[in-house]
Amino acid sequence: MLFYEPARRPRDMLPHDPFKALIAPRPIGWVSTRSAAGALNLAPYSFFNSFADRPPIIAFSSQGYKDSVAFIEETGEFVWNMPTYALRDAMNRTAAPLQRGQNEADHAGLAMAPSRLVAVPRVAASPAALECRSIEVKRLVDRSGTALDYWLVLGEVVGVHINEDFIRDGVVDTAAMAPIARCGYADYLVADSLFTLDRPS
Ligand SMILES: Cc1cc2nc3c(=O)[nH]c(=O)nc-3n(C[C@H](O)[C@H](O)[C@H](O)COP(=O)(O)O)c2cc1C
Repeated sequence: MLFYEPARRPRDMLPHDPFKALIAPRPIGWVSTRSAAGALNLAPYSFFNSFADRPPIIAFSSQGYKDSVAFIEETGEFVWNMPTYALRDAMNRTAAPLQRGQNEADHAGLAMAPSRLVAVPRVAASPAALECRSIEVKRLVDRSGTALDYWLVLGEVVGVHINEDFIRDGVVDTAAMAPIARCGYADYLVADSLFTLDRPS
């Protein structure tokens, strides 16, 4: 069993940091935001997950103070859009480093649909979307308290969109939605088959 401390990775054996290949698959926060002036932004974040369900709370981390974070600090709102296998190329295109004010959704050929409770639109073709209001934007620090260039955005879900085609017998058919998740390197996984386990009593 190989062991190393992160700063002392054996680079001959592992030239690329495998960290993201280990915390895998990671769901993708495909985050739409709007600036106070009305500029739209859409970008994927794989440092993303949910952290509470009553009320539902989700969070993503931005490496660098990117437009998504800046816009959320301006307006207090964002939307999570489910990226799916069908939308994989469009999702990837929204990671393009465009000039501030240039719209990634247009760049990726994606139609946006209005949200209900926030001014930020959602990706119309995503089978699910969560309207959020931000709780906190926290700059991450390392264990000695040194500020890092990572910004954690926590948001409370205030509105839920689900395409009814994927609701069957009272449950959401996640596998039919085929959400994609990020692994390491250039790898992704598609969640198109599920297995079930009963909780031990
Ligand atoms: C699948 C995927 C996952 C990504 N995850 C992250 C992430 O977790 N954190 C981050 O800072 N950038 C991540 N990126 C890169 C951002 O999406 C990219 O920098 C984007 O242009 C940021 O947009 P913005 O500056 O308009 O907010 C990811 C890109 C892809 C394709």
